[in-house]
Amino acid sequence: KQAPYFAQTLINWYNRHKRNLPWRATTDPYFIWLSEVILQQTRVNQGLPYYNKFTETYPTVQDLAAAPEDEVLRLWQGLGYYSRARNMHHTARQIVQEYGGNFPDNYSELLKLKGVGNYTAAATAAFAFKEQVAVLDGNVFRVLSRVFGISEDIALPASRKVFQEQANELVPADEPDTYNQAIMEFGAIQCTPVMPDCLFCPLQQQCFAFTHGLVQELPVKSKA
Ligand code: ADE
Repeated sequence: KQAPYFAQTLINWYNRHKRNLPWRATTDPYFIWLSEVILQQTRVNQGLPYYNKFTETYPTVQDLAAAPEDEVLRLWQGLGYYSRARNMHHTARQIVQEYGGNFPDNYSELLKLKGVGNYTAAATAAFAFKEQVAVLDGNVFRVLSRVFGISEDIALPASRKVFQEQANELVPADEPDTYNQAIMEFGAIQCTPVMPDCLFCPLQQQCFAFTHGLVQELPVKSKA
């Protein structure tokens, strides 16, 4: 079964252009959650060595939970936003103590974990459990805003909820994991903030921003 055109085009693009990244070769929710926490405010090239370091030092959530906090913070050194590391450590302990060492297997339960917001819950649910939920980050928002001509400011909480619901509709039931990786990668490599590669874009003819000469105008800059 083929996904609808938009999703299938992104997946085809992804299969030709994707980078090989270690968290894409696993469905272990612990590794996926760890990678997404690290990548939240960090670029892939900077985050990659930290991901490797953490997964080698703490191969299971039990190992991370059992580690002393100062050791975790020391490994985190250089990534900044130390509250991320503290929340991460807290969540690992919560998973072990309250969830028997198993991550919840769906978006709404993941959202209840400390330091797990919409983004991380959606990423973990989609990549580890193939839940049909859209992962929304700056890259994804830019792609959707341009292709569909969305001019609402996503930083406003009211727009965010509507936007999540609309974005969920685009996620194909049979490969939510591949689709979500694909649209993130497409935003990171092809539909970039500055000088997007519209000339060689497989969505050029469908893209609202391109066909209306609004690529520079979308997405609408956040006031936050
Ligand atoms: N940035 C955040 N999550 C990512 C992922 N899963 N793949 C590539 N870059 C990312």
